[in-house]
Amino acid sequence: MSSGSLIELLDAFEAAAMAAIESAGDAGALEAARIEFLGARQGRLRDLQGLLGQATKEEKPLVGRRFNEVKTRVGAALEARQRVLARPARKVGGLDVTLPGTRSPQGRRHPLTQTILEFKEIMGRFGFSVADGPEVEDEWHNFEALNIPADHPARDPLENFYLAAAQVAARDGSSSPPRLLRSQTSTVQIRVMESSPPPIRIISVGRVYRPDTIDATHSCMFHQMEGLLIAEGTTMAQLKTVLRLFARAYLGQDVSIRFRPSFFPFTEPSVEVDMSWGSRWLEIGGAGMVDPNVLRAVGYDPDLVTGFAFGLGIERFCMRRYSIPDIRYFTGNDLRFLSQF
Ligand code: PHE
Repeated sequence: MSSGSLIELLDAFEAAAMAAIESAGDAGALEAARIEFLGARQGRLRDLQGLLGQATKEEKPLVGRRFNEVKTRVGAALEARQRVLARPARKVGGLDVTLPGTRSPQGRRHPLTQTILEFKEIMGRFGFSVADGPEVEDEWHNFEALNIPADHPARDPLENFYLAAAQVAARDGSSSPPRLLRSQTSTVQIRVMESSPPPIRIISVGRVYRPDTIDATHSCMFHQMEGLLIAEGTTMAQLKTVLRLFARAYLGQDVSIRFRPSFFPFTEPSVEVDMSWGSRWLEIGGAGMVDPNVLRAVGYDPDLVTGFAFGLGIERFCMRRYSIPDIRYFTGNDLRFLSQF
């Protein structure tokens, strides 16, 4: 065979191999092309190699060089195509999926929300269901039914957030009843008892409002968890047990509870509740046996049922647990704070 036709064969081989490699749409098609053109046993290049021996002595260098050139080029094209096919598709419906994405920051629950959910979950295990009440209340639910009479200092307008609309209505002699932002979640005790007969076993978690001077430990808005259990023969020992179980479920088995005598118009006897936490006692709220006047106000018979109630400050727990030094962080909306929880 003449070197001219050998060169032609090599040219034709190169063109065909390049076309097959370029048009291979996936790794399988490319591998088929590799076997057809470069396969060590029956590939077309191998067949051509067999023909090289037919070149004359003078032709050999030329043909040999061209052979090596074709082999190298086709091999390189094959590898390049392999790399392309191994890449993820760049365009999906006009979208370049290989561009770096924009990371959307992951949000999380507010630490108080996390605490509230945990409180609800723990009390749920003790059989307490969750009740809710409005944050804008009337005086009956915030005071009257809770045995706080009209002349009680706790009802002083300076101690509460009365709504201006009601103040205006009162000044104008209209009959619109005064309303205020509730100063305690004990309002929900009344609402629940008014709408359902005993036995009762509920908690209620929510915001309360008091015109306190704001500092690191005081805010004019904070959260309470109210608890109420009404049944026949309820005892103060049961109250203490529930609070102890709650504190231990939240913080661990080495926590203990302490009662100090106190006064609330709606409980008798009344106590302040302290919890030992590490080396310190922390005041966590108030509690007591529901006053018979409260039971009567909602139409219960104090000779048939008794009950206990408690109100705990949520911020206190959360601040202590996470060593949060200032209550204002909760409402500061600072991501550097919030993203730590
Ligand atoms: N409502 C009381 C407070 O806000 C707490 C409390 C609730 C006390 C229930 C006794 C019983 O301080």
